[in-house]
Amino acid sequence: MSSSNPLRDAQDRRLPRIAGPSGLVIFGVTGDLSRKKLMPAVYDLANRGLLPPGFSLIGFARREWEDEDFADEVYQAVKEHARTPFRDEVWQQLSQGMRFVQGDFDDDEAFETLKKTMQELDAAQGTGGNFAFYLSVPPKFFPLVVQQLKRHGLADQKNGAWRRAVIEKPFGHDLTSAKELNEIVHEVFAPDQVFRIDHYLGKETVQNILALRFANTLFEPVWNRSYVDHVQITMAEDIGIGGRAGYYDGIGAARDVIQNHLLQLLALTAMEEPAAFDANALAAEKTKVLGAVKLPKDLGKSTVRGQYAAGWQGGARAVGYLEEEGINPASTTDTYAAIKLEIDNRRWAGVPFYLRTGKRLGRRVTEIAVVFQRAPHSPFDQTATEELGQNALVIRVQPDEGVTLRFGSKVPGTSLEVRDVSMDFAYGESFTESSPEAYERLILDVLLGDANLFPRTEEVELSWKILDPIEQFWDKHGKPAQYESGTWGPVEADDMLARDGRSWRRP
Ligand code: BG6
Repeated sequence: MSSSNPLRDAQDRRLPRIAGPSGLVIFGVTGDLSRKKLMPAVYDLANRGLLPPGFSLIGFARREWEDEDFADEVYQAVKEHARTPFRDEVWQQLSQGMRFVQGDFDDDEAFETLKKTMQELDAAQGTGGNFAFYLSVPPKFFPLVVQQLKRHGLADQKNGAWRRAVIEKPFGHDLTSAKELNEIVHEVFAPDQVFRIDHYLGKETVQNILALRFANTLFEPVWNRSYVDHVQITMAEDIGIGGRAGYYDGIGAARDVIQNHLLQLLALTAMEEPAAFDANALAAEKTKVLGAVKLPKDLGKSTVRGQYAAGWQGGARAVGYLEEEGINPASTTDTYAAIKLEIDNRRWAGVPFYLRTGKRLGRRVTEIAVVFQRAPHSPFDQTATEELGQNALVIRVQPDEGVTLRFGSKVPGTSLEVRDVSMDFAYGESFTESSPEAYERLILDVLLGDANLFPRTEEVELSWKILDPIEQFWDKHGKPAQYESGTWGPVEADDMLARDGRSWRRP
């Protein structure tokens, strides 16, 4: 919240934000996300001194573990995946507050044990009754877990203590189910108690989109239909689905990442300047722009879904999606999706936004490329500019975080030839500060009650509204196109851009 003193606000923002007395309960603590991201993030936060001394971590899962087994698991996860160096004194302190509760999600006794465990930690660790519940569970269990929290009085905020729910994506699998889920969640938690995670919003480079656009004068004047030809948002992964068949099959690439990560990137790229950098103002602008997104009429020509076939990747033979363990051999799930969208407002009318994502592509890269129109007139003859591409500003979200500006420059020599060059900003070279992992930042925000980086109900629903007709169209129209693992997706996706006289960037 901002005060009437802007100078003090600015100073406050520079101070490290440290969570007050609190604890985190992770449901689904034996899962991949918890081991690779959540547990290491908690340790890294502690190591950076951003958690209170008595911070507590409760794991809830079916596994027959004692507290010590759970602590061992966290220890292994931290050793393997934490980003900050291991320090025994930090670990010792953190492990004091670790507890494990064994049970199924429909097991009332387990929820009573959870309640007692939280009370015990309040007394032993001084957590003050403040707990966040992280639902790192398959989406079908969201309603049950939330209802169990209510039934056992765990969502009640008594005596000044807070309770918050953190819900992983996907939030529903279409608009109807998202609305139903919302109703269930809001029967238990008030809107300000609910934090829907979209971990892309916790990435440093994603937050930098707003800084780049609104803290500078240089970019915003050309950030519109008068100068921009089109925008390409790419999230490419080289990995396959790994051990996630149970989650992924039937969900697919578009629901897994376009509905959330890519549409959030689109919203941040296309939205108007928010009145303030706070949750309400940000949500208002993102909602407005998502509400203005329009699907082209012919979905057959403006969307492509694909599925990876066997191929070579990183020097090794990779199996096709249908041969992955746990996948239905007749599955039509998309592991690649490309979609053309338009934004029906004054700034963007007629500028296509091309979104694409895929697993088992050439390499892991996420970027937003704002591609500008060609110069309206050139004094050089055509042979001089033959090799010149279009100017582009590329926000490199990962892995090589930074920003690239591509423009034409004269090739040294006596003849006149203009070729593309680039000007690069790389985080690693300009800053010595290390950026926290997305989950670190978001977990800390939950503990602080800061909702800036969490999508609101309206954003989630609008995103489903965009995707639903596409999914329905795909359901009715045949099978996904095949693409060889290690390539850049199906040829149909290249054709889609070629029809518009454009081509995908090869990042
Ligand atoms: C998750 C998706 O949200 O994002 C995964 O469910 C995907 O399928 C992952 O692999 C990618 O995240 P990142 O941060 O590695 O780009």
